Amino acid sequence: MASAKNKLVAPVLKWVGGKRQLLETIKPLLPKRISSYCEPFVGGGALLFHLQPKIAHVNDVNEELIRVYTVIKNNVESLITELEKFKNEADFFYAVRDWDRDKKKYASLSDTEKAARILYLNKTCYNGLFRVNNAGEFNSPFGSYKNPNIVNAPALRAVNFYFNTANISLTCLDYEKVLNSISKGTFVYLDPPYDPVSDTSSFTGYSKMGFTQEDQVRLRECCDNLTAKGIKFILSNSATNFIKEQYSNYEIITVQAKRAINSVSSRRGEIDEVLVRNYE
Ligand SMILES: C[S@@+](CC[C@H](N)C(=O)[O-])C[C@H]1O[C@@H](n2cnc3c(N)ncnc32)[C@H](O)[C@@H]1O
Repeated sequence: MASAKNKLVAPVLKWVGGKRQLLETIKPLLPKRISSYCEPFVGGGALLFHLQPKIAHVNDVNEELIRVYTVIKNNVESLITELEKFKNEADFFYAVRDWDRDKKKYASLSDTEKAARILYLNKTCYNGLFRVNNAGEFNSPFGSYKNPNIVNAPALRAVNFYFNTANISLTCLDYEKVLNSISKGTFVYLDPPYDPVSDTSSFTGYSKMGFTQEDQVRLRECCDNLTAKGIKFILSNSATNFIKEQYSNYEIITVQAKRAINSVSSRRGEIDEVLVRNYE
């Protein structure tokens, strides 16, 4: 673990399921020493950026997200210059949002332009959500915010510094490939898309593939393999009967968490989640 943590290193994207509000609950449950860390469903990376481990394998199946992190690592100053060109105006927003409708044009953009677009849309779209439709196209509407922080240069530079001073590998793979490749001594934090608590609460817009109950079962099988290899993990998910049954052989800690997945604000609020771990 990095000895002096940089407070400016923090999530640069708002992400559905962001774990900032659960950090204080998770922290005491972590192993005392983490020398090597793996996060296969990194999303906004709240725990990663909080812990700032010296060695980390960072993964997510969302290609746009991993591109953002890769560009922050390799090209942060061009990214900041690119972001400065964006305006918080509805017409401008929809024009930028629609870049991915023209596949040929989109393919011709640089990685820096694509990453700047995602950061810009995330700051200016309604509720700050990354959401795609079945065709994989960004579809959140304009948010009409007064003063969105489109160019958060201090945070971008801090994350750039962290990514370049620690030993970080960034991949865009299905979680199973990542989990099969890690070895003993690595600590794993698993924060998959949650099992829906009701038919209307499911959020599948992270990627066009969604996340099914079969994916949840496959993940539990991966967890069993980690346990067999002596690799420690902690997993978060919703407190559904299905999830509790899947992990009935493990320690299950029920926690209350505020979630804002529902766009109907009256449905936001405290709901039960579980933390599952395979170590004392
Ligand atoms: C609950 S979010 C993670 C939130 C994150 N912990 C945070 O603090 O922002 C789940 C993530 O899993 C990713 N994901 C979905 N299916 C996946 C798969 N098959 N393999 C790897 N990542 C996947 C999504 O793109 C999403 O970013």
